[in-house]
Amino acid sequence: MKLKTLILGTALTAGAVTMAQPADAAGRLNVICSADNEWCELMKNAFELEHDVSVSMVRKSSGETYAQVRAEGANPKLDIWWGGTGDPHLQAAAEGLTEEYKSEKLDELQDWAVNQAENADYRTVGVYAGALGIGYNNELMKSKGLPAPKCWKDLTDSAYQGEIQMANPNSSGTSYTALATLVQIFGEDDAFQLMKDMHPNINQYTKSGSAPIKAAAIGETTIAITFMHDMVTQKKQGADITIVSPCEGTGYEVGSMSIIKGARNLENAKLWYEFALSDRTQSIAEEAGSYQVPSNKSARVPEDAPRLEEVKLIDYDFAKYGSAEVRRALLSRWDNEIR
Ligand code: F6P
Repeated sequence: MKLKTLILGTALTAGAVTMAQPADAAGRLNVICSADNEWCELMKNAFELEHDVSVSMVRKSSGETYAQVRAEGANPKLDIWWGGTGDPHLQAAAEGLTEEYKSEKLDELQDWAVNQAENADYRTVGVYAGALGIGYNNELMKSKGLPAPKCWKDLTDSAYQGEIQMANPNSSGTSYTALATLVQIFGEDDAFQLMKDMHPNINQYTKSGSAPIKAAAIGETTIAITFMHDMVTQKKQGADITIVSPCEGTGYEVGSMSIIKGARNLENAKLWYEFALSDRTQSIAEEAGSYQVPSNKSARVPEDAPRLEEVKLIDYDFAKYGSAEVRRALLSRWDNEIR
């Protein structure tokens, strides 16, 4: 109810969503959404207000979505995959599971979003970006007398036994970004050693990437490895959390969108694609408590969104770590050596 009021409010007062209903747009659209649920719902509702298309939507983490798209390859049930980290979108593109499409809005996008499209022969595109970080619950940290972590390496300290939560990189794009980030910073063997040393400190490998910071917000874990924008969401809702940009540098995601190869509702998938890249649509993300940096240069950047230029970012190699070979090899090594 609150969500609908917000959308309608935005549509009517700020003109963020128009009520135009193109005659050729009637019908259905099957969307799989890998961003947070509230943002997925906002997108669905805003799209249905703008187009005469009934959207059926499911939410799944990035790695899980990739697995579904792959499993359904010969008989696709989905039309469009919106959101989620870019690496599995790139892998799906390389495997021919997504459709080539050049948006008329490519010129309006940030370079990182266009690079994502170019790396995939236009079988995906960037819709938002955000950096990875370490977040902790200030009260728990204090009451347990724990030292504040500043670097990735600090997370191997035995003082943190059972205090850290992160997602499983097979299901979660956030956690795959963390895995690929550590490999790029330390080299593969040292990164795996670090994750082995950190393993006794992990209380749970969750399915979804933002779950650990939600758990930290309610005191179920002290430390979380997630995207910084997901930490901002919790802080804005009143959680007492500190956001750390790790001293060695950190990786980032190019949240992406892809049309599924063989989509049954291809024209409607293209409508969604254009809708999702527009500055108007990207400007309403904050209403769902989402603080990523939008890919459309004219979209409003939420005041509290962590700015990429203010974080010590590594030169994340999206083409390499999104390739099927490297992603598969890293995940299988993680399964064998860490889990
Ligand atoms: O919407 C929150 C978010 O962190 C996105 O920025 C990101 O693309 C997605 O969730 C990743 O989710 P998961 O780690 O569950 O795949």
